[in-house]
Amino acid sequence: MDDLKSEGDLNVSPQRRRWVKDHLDAETRKWLEEDAKYFLRQSLSTPCLNVLKSCGGIYLEDLQGRKYMDFHGNNVHQVGFGNPRVVAAIKAQLGELPFCTRRYTNLPAIKLAKKLAELAPGNLKKVLFAPGGASAIGIALKLARAATGRHKTISLWDSFHGASLDAISIGGQAIFRRDIGPLLPGAEHVPPPEPAGCPFNCGERCNLQCARYIEYVLEKEGDVAAVIAETVRSTPCIPPPDYWNRIRAACDRYGALLVLDEIPHCPGRTGKMFACQHFDVVPDMLVLGKGLGGGVFPLAALMTREDLDIMPDRALGHYTHEKNPVACAAGLATIETIETDGLLENARRLGERALKRISKIKQRRGLVLKGRGLGLLLGIELLKAGKTPAPASDVAEEVMYRALGKGLSFKVTMGNILTLTPPLTITLQEMERAIDIIEECIGEVGSAHSG
Ligand SMILES: Cc1ncc(COP(=O)(O)O)c(C=O)c1O
Repeated sequence: MDDLKSEGDLNVSPQRRRWVKDHLDAETRKWLEEDAKYFLRQSLSTPCLNVLKSCGGIYLEDLQGRKYMDFHGNNVHQVGFGNPRVVAAIKAQLGELPFCTRRYTNLPAIKLAKKLAELAPGNLKKVLFAPGGASAIGIALKLARAATGRHKTISLWDSFHGASLDAISIGGQAIFRRDIGPLLPGAEHVPPPEPAGCPFNCGERCNLQCARYIEYVLEKEGDVAAVIAETVRSTPCIPPPDYWNRIRAACDRYGALLVLDEIPHCPGRTGKMFACQHFDVVPDMLVLGKGLGGGVFPLAALMTREDLDIMPDRALGHYTHEKNPVACAAGLATIETIETDGLLENARRLGERALKRISKIKQRRGLVLKGRGLGLLLGIELLKAGKTPAPASDVAEEVMYRALGKGLSFKVTMGNILTLTPPLTITLQEMERAIDIIEECIGEVGSAHSG
């Protein structure tokens, strides 16, 4: 099972079974059984953990009336759930133009594309919407082929770009790729920049071996269409400061395009509207999504350099809900909220404070903690203390379930990283409370394991 650790905590663990047994009443269990009866099972969803009744702001509420701070939210809830501006925009748009038939366009779609083009760095001035991140990634792959006349890609092990066949071909996680048959040809993978244990053994003094390796593969292959990667991985994994500039230069040298996937973080989660702005790099294409739909609608966008508008005689995207006016109205209200309510500043300020507190925890009996993050994309890696600290996956999962019992929901990634992504609307007090809960749980579980 260990090599299937991935995006999130799996639903097949004994801790999960125990939590369900201890916390859910007969009514909730009945609905969960119904859910499992009708939905196809899969390891990151059905059978599900619990049944939700409502959500608002940073909170979820289950059928039994328990409330949880949602530090997971599938990364759609930058502006909080049921944000009043978003809801009002959706309601107004529903009453006027709920759908846009192909061949026509509509004002919310045009205004959202214009707004994104104004905000994006460099010459990322052209936009195509899609009803989900994986679809937008698929469009980027096709456009990269058309623009370069090449088909090979370089992407990162452990990465995630969506669950469709083309997206898992460039993604790097066994749980999506294994036993599924032939994937896209020419999809090469390289090791990611990995703060949790650099595969190139750079140690404390990073000398960008990971970026150099991409350069090496670009040169050896000589005909790579695109390097495609998450600007910062959600675990979180934040590359060294010069990583992207180095790869940007290598892409230019060998004629490959740079495609950055910011689906879970853009707009705003990292404290800047676009995550690449932290690295002073401009890709040739950038993909955003998730929170763009205001925590209500599935909406993603591919943004490209103006001169990559090269396929006017082909159907590049062609998704039914491409210019959905209600989704675009939600997108516009989301960006307006981030700008008007100072959410970038809040993400930066609270993210820094949270990291400071996390870094003070450092050690608990038998455990070593490593905090990292950018804005309100935060993570705590749990390791078992020792000469060569090992991932404390069993502990991480137990911490997660204990925290749920105390009203805090987050996910565990790669087995041993508590990944914390609250809405950017969170207050300092709520953030402090969440870290108190994590600290309490780590204390309880750490001492339980060492004792
Ligand atoms: C980095 C990244 N890329 C792509 C996707 C796929 O987006 P969607 O689920 O909207 O297809 C995700 C979803 O989690 C993601 O995190």
